[in-house]
Amino acid sequence: MIRQVVYLSSARAGTGDAEIAAILDAARAANGRNGLTGMLAAGGGVYLQIVEGPAEAVESLLTRLRADARHENLRVLQDGEAATRNFPGRLMGFRVLAPEAAGLIAAQLRVRAMTAAEIATALGNPAAVGLAQVALAA
Ligand SMILES: Cc1cc2nc3c(=O)[nH]c(=O)nc-3n(C[C@H](O)[C@H](O)[C@H](O)COP(=O)(O)O)c2cc1C
Repeated sequence: MIRQVVYLSSARAGTGDAEIAAILDAARAANGRNGLTGMLAAGGGVYLQIVEGPAEAVESLLTRLRADARHENLRVLQDGEAATRNFPGRLMGFRVLAPEAAGLIAAQLRVRAMTAAEIATALGNPAAVGLAQVALAA
């Protein structure tokens, strides 16, 4: 089983595309070493991230994320186990996050559990979660 965590956080003020690109570059390198895959969505001052992999690797990343001053108010929306990965081979996909999408997903998760695949679908076509291809919109 792998562990899948979904969280929302608030980007620190003034976060721009360069910072997000730097986060993604470093995240992809580290995730390859740590056996983690997933997707980051960012927009409207909010991050929504899905991380999946070995339980200890996810736990260790959560500890680092909570200490990272580039965002704050990290709220875990869902923390569970899955038999298979939803983002195999994606060291960290990226999508621009529409603020309404973040609100909708958070509201739905208060009512019921969603799979990472459902969340990815709610964020847009998961097949389009390209790595470098997705332009970082302002
Ligand atoms: C929104 C956001 C998403 C991040 N995603 C990842 C990730 O997927 N993997 C990762 O290793 N680090 C990620 N980081 C960076 C970690 O918070 C941390 O800086 C990094 O793992 C290095 O930690 P260290 O300096 O303690 O070694 C992310 C940071 C932010 C702000």
